[in-house]
Amino acid sequence: MDLEQLAALRTPEGSAVLAEAARLAGGDPLHAAAALRTTGVAPGLAAAALTQAELRRRAVGKFGPAAAGMFLTRPGLEQATRGVVARRRADRLRAAGVRTLADLGCGLGADALAAARCGIRVYGVEADPLTAAMAAANAEAAGLADLFTVTCGDATTFDVTTVDAVFCDPARRRGGTGRRIFDPNSYSPPWDFVTGLAERVPRTVVKVAPGIDHALIPAGAEAEWVSVGGDLVEAALWCGPLAESPRRATLLRKEGPPVNACGIEGSPSHRPSAGAAAGSGAGVGGVTGGYGLTGDGTAEAPVGPVGRYLYDPDPAVVRAHLVAELATELGATLADPTIAYLYADRAVDTPYARCLEVTDVLPFSLKRLRGLLRERRVGRVEILKRGSALEPEKLRRDLRLAGDLPASLVLTRVAAAPTVLVCRPV
Ligand SMILES: C[S@@+](CC[C@H](N)C(=O)[O-])C[C@H]1O[C@@H](n2cnc3c(N)ncnc32)[C@H](O)[C@@H]1O
Repeated sequence: MDLEQLAALRTPEGSAVLAEAARLAGGDPLHAAAALRTTGVAPGLAAAALTQAELRRRAVGKFGPAAAGMFLTRPGLEQATRGVVARRRADRLRAAGVRTLADLGCGLGADALAAARCGIRVYGVEADPLTAAMAAANAEAAGLADLFTVTCGDATTFDVTTVDAVFCDPARRRGGTGRRIFDPNSYSPPWDFVTGLAERVPRTVVKVAPGIDHALIPAGAEAEWVSVGGDLVEAALWCGPLAESPRRATLLRKEGPPVNACGIEGSPSHRPSAGAAAGSGAGVGGVTGGYGLTGDGTAEAPVGPVGRYLYDPDPAVVRAHLVAELATELGATLADPTIAYLYADRAVDTPYARCLEVTDVLPFSLKRLRGLLRERRVGRVEILKRGSALEPEKLRRDLRLAGDLPASLVLTRVAAAPTVLVCRPV
């Protein structure tokens, strides 16, 4: 797709071509291209429309029904923030009093659109001309062109003194290959520019890879890890007055109840008790449309025996180094100081961890495990592991299961010893 084709697809005739492409998408691509061309559409435009239709179909998982009206590039979609995460961030910015925001490297505009939906005036800057034009088209399609405007250019030259806050989600993929970049020094805009932003604009938020090294977190910033439906999706650094706690784990649901005026989900029906660890600097409590666990990320959970229940913490909790705070909330302990499974004799309903009931604890031995599973008529196993080098699929084959009942196997270490726990869901 080029700028000319984008302009053509934004005309009323182009909309009709896109509608037809949407109808044809998902079937045989050669047949779809031929069918579009027989209606008189130029081959290049037909291909561009079919690509849009395909990308829009894929984008529904990230943006919901809004995807149907968006213009997308493949790399732009891959890098775009999920709607539920962008909405939560926008809600928090708005609640912090942000009214004008610069989005430095706005991509297709997923974050910027969410902020604009919350009534924040967003100035987007995007270096890639086609992506910038698509972001502007997306603002128009969403009816937000007066709240989100896009300039094509270098974000490092934007005058940040003109806005309340800045947001930067640097590109973490190589232009040519699309390969992920793990070294922040290779981000674009560059990492030193990104981290220097907080010195120029106190209210700075930076989206980073969830694997970010804790040593790179600027002093005084809040580092937040976000999971959606149990999948770790991103981390963000909240600087200056936006930092509320050194570390935060935010858990969001994939689908939610109806949204309010900002496009934010309403209160969840289940919330953990708030302020369970009050006084220690840690806390738990609901966040809009999800759950938030906070702490300073340095506390260590107590170590104890394997209990009747095992808790497998959400990856956001683990990456935020908040397992000790969760242990306090659950009254649980680790069985090995280096492994993030928690154990307790009480089953607590928590959004922060999956709970399994432990039925057997065995020092790891394939023969013993196979014998036990045969005896229990177990034929289907899910295999979880932390701190074990065993390959789950190889183990599954080696077990030669023959029964018809399910079980969960947890490969781990207990006081440094390789151990397998046989569990069932709670
Ligand atoms: C990760 S994407 C942003 C995605 C966006 N937050 C979203 O959710 O849609 C980063 C974008 O920054 C742009 N970019 C990289 N370096 C830039 C620079 N120096 N100035 C402006 N844009 C830049 C890239 O072209 C890319 O579109």
